[in-house]
Amino acid sequence: MADPTSDDPAAGGPGADGPGAGDPRPAAPAAAPTATPTAREAEVAENMGVSATDPHTSPANPENRISVGRRAADAENAEQILQNAPEAIIGVRPGHGARKPVRRKPGKQPVEVASTGHSWDGIEEYDNPLPRWWLWTFYATIIWAIGYVIAFPAIPLVTKATEGLLGRTTRNEVAADIQRFDAANAPIQARLTSVDLAAIKDDPELMNYAGNAGAAVFRTWCAQCHGSGAAGASGYPNLLDNDWLWGGTIEDIHTTLLHGIRSPDDPDTRYSEMPRFGLDELLDDAQIRQVTQYVLSLSGQPHDAAAAGAGATVFAEQCTACHLEDGTGDRAQGAPDLTDAVWLYGRDGQADAATIQRIVHDGPFGVMPAWSDRLSEADIRAVASYVHGLGGGE
Ligand code: HEC
Ligand code: HEC
Repeated sequence: MADPTSDDPAAGGPGADGPGAGDPRPAAPAAAPTATPTAREAEVAENMGVSATDPHTSPANPENRISVGRRAADAENAEQILQNAPEAIIGVRPGHGARKPVRRKPGKQPVEVASTGHSWDGIEEYDNPLPRWWLWTFYATIIWAIGYVIAFPAIPLVTKATEGLLGRTTRNEVAADIQRFDAANAPIQARLTSVDLAAIKDDPELMNYAGNAGAAVFRTWCAQCHGSGAAGASGYPNLLDNDWLWGGTIEDIHTTLLHGIRSPDDPDTRYSEMPRFGLDELLDDAQIRQVTQYVLSLSGQPHDAAAAGAGATVFAEQCTACHLEDGTGDRAQGAPDLTDAVWLYGRDGQADAATIQRIVHDGPFGVMPAWSDRLSEADIRAVASYVHGLGGGE
């Protein structure tokens, strides 16, 4: 069988006319190839490990083309085997004697680049130096990192990180900022707490500070209950209107904030308790229905006149101690005015019969926390002034 690789056209064509036992052809003409081989011929011969000048082996001699073809194929196979063989068998791979790329720089001698000896599928890895700019950038990052680790908090330990020589942490920065602002605000806060409450509004600088600081305090501590716009909700009074349960002068508001309303942790808290007329069976259901109709009539809402007439008696007996004869309420007890259209427990500013009936049956008990142990006097004054200025201050 003819070796297919020997059909390689480079080897000189069909293998059918290779030299056999009965080959009539004479021995190789000792002519052409023995003359000085061309550079290319010499190189091919050298790569194959034969002599370019020996007519029996020279690839330039057409008589040798079969064996030249075989040798070429063998050389290629050997190359493959070498490449795939583990290092344990053949030792550390040489650079395979491949031609090495040459680096050239303008005006400089070409430098031959060494191979690392790594080769994959015949693709070799050259040991080119890294670009300068890259290398210097790399060194710079290393130096920067070392400096950073020394100067700043960096290495996590069990409870915290290493502190760093500069002692700079975001926590310290915040603390320093707060201290800075506190120091900057100290004089104006001192003035705010020393002046008469009623005099704050006459001092533009104090008003400006109280407006800003008070709004910030309000957003943080009050908006949950009174709403971010201070318009309140059912059970939480609207602070924008001119209707006050406990009084709307700045002194009243200040006292409300200091001690809270029905606040369990302040002995001086504003306190009063509307009886639970239904739960405690002070009134029966019919009486509650009647007095409810009377309350509706007080603010001019649609009502059952006959029931309201009977309710007037109930009201006079049970309710006037706090809501007064005419129903206009008593700020000393935080009892709301029942004759206006403002409802603490209403919905959308309205109170229907069912709501009033429930209030009278269950007894309302609104609680507002005392702020004296949570906010500084300056903050309380600031937010009192802010609330006072919201529109409904007296
Ligand atoms: C936990 C909810 C809650 C928070 C927080 C709260 N309040 Fe109140 N506040 C109430 C309730 C409830 C009332 C009404 C109490 C009552 O029924 O008499 C009230 C009443 C008031 C009143 C009296 C209104 C009037 O008509 O007399 C003022 C003023 C007031 N709050 C201001 C503030 C300010 C300022 C803050 C923040 C520092 C604040 N409140 C935080 C629940 C709250
Ligand atoms: C001891 C005083 C007291 C008595 C007596 C009293 N109230 Fe009140 N009433 C209050 C107080 C204080 C509030 C506000 C409660 C709160 O803010 O939690 C109130 C609230 C109300 C409200 C809700 C008002 C609103 O704006 O939502 C109604 C309605 C009301 N009372 C009706 C009555 C009727 C009717 C009686 C008599 C049967 C009565 N009250 C007797 C003190 C009293």
